[in-house]
Amino acid sequence: MSEATTIARPTTATLAEACRLLRSGTLVAFPTETVYGLGADATSDAAVARIFAAKERPRFNPLIVHFATVADAEAEVELDARARMLAEAFWPGPLTLVLKRRPSSRLSLLVSAGLDTVAIRAPDHTVAQALIRAAGVPIAAPSANRFGHVSPTTAAHVADSLGGRVELILDGGPCRCGIESTILDLSGAEATVLRPGAVTAEALANVLGVTLGSARANDPRLPPPAPGMLRRHYAPGRPLRLNASAALPGEALIGFGPEAPADCLNLSRPSDLEEAAANLFATLRALDRPEVAAIAVMPIPEQGLGRAINDRLTRAAATDEPVPPDPDPFDHDRGPALPCALPDGLE
Ligand code: TXA
Ligand code: MG
Repeated sequence: MSEATTIARPTTATLAEACRLLRSGTLVAFPTETVYGLGADATSDAAVARIFAAKERPRFNPLIVHFATVADAEAEVELDARARMLAEAFWPGPLTLVLKRRPSSRLSLLVSAGLDTVAIRAPDHTVAQALIRAAGVPIAAPSANRFGHVSPTTAAHVADSLGGRVELILDGGPCRCGIESTILDLSGAEATVLRPGAVTAEALANVLGVTLGSARANDPRLPPPAPGMLRRHYAPGRPLRLNASAALPGEALIGFGPEAPADCLNLSRPSDLEEAAANLFATLRALDRPEVAAIAVMPIPEQGLGRAINDRLTRAAATDEPVPPDPDPFDHDRGPALPCALPDGLE
């Protein structure tokens, strides 16, 4: 694990250094249009294993692999007609597609965590695109925060979460969307949203011309729709109370809309859901302070981007996450035993 973390503005020189680090199996955090990612060479078992160690992320939780182009992704996964249409409409952009992995794929089996699928996307950010192209390999990247915590939308957030655990953070300023990509499972006959995100279900349904299946979220009796969609996630260190109309003593209020009290932190005074999504994680982090006993949040409309915002808030407010058993995805009859030993010194 690295001792010191460098934060650098993206320049020709720092991008070249980032590529050198990635090619040598080291972690580099970089900006995307959604949130900052913690990147590693997706074709290297040792590099991908370092992501799990740095985030303290359970090994059953697979990773999104980032590509520069559809053609590059095509070498690793099977793209059907639906995937092509959606990639054409939304890539580069905040849409992740879960697709069947090709047997010939060079991607580390660790990115799939024992599944026969891979989640892929092409980020819409010049720094992310430049990095992937220059590295010459697909980049596995979860959000650059410790497991279960609030996702980072600035380089400083990454340093707060992972300082000392990542060699280099490329600082591209605040992320434009501020909420993670939408995850759509296309590995079966029905297209199913596993995680609501920056592309709305309405926009996806328009392009596909069909109604989408929706993985039931937050039902404690059922396993999570995507392995990483635990009921409690995105959690600040304070209790969170939803659908509040005002703050109780000791609470800090997160508002939404023109009616919210003037002295609260307002996600968007003009009730703009895009602005609210962009402000959400930074606001949760800003209130994660000892003098704040609890956080109260005013209601957000359950439509369009509001669904993704409410999904994150509901998970951040959940208190009763049963710790899931850690199934051993490495003891699987689907293929050869997967490499699961971490490189020396990582754990
Ligand atoms: O916007 C984003 O998607 C950001 C940026 C960095 O690209 N990434 C991100 O990654 O949010 P992460 O690891 O924080 O969330 C990825 C989610 C997890 O819930 C994981 O379980 C799910 O995607 N996932 C990954 N591969 C999957 C697969 N093959 N099948 C189903 N779910 C998968
Ligand atoms: Mg995450």
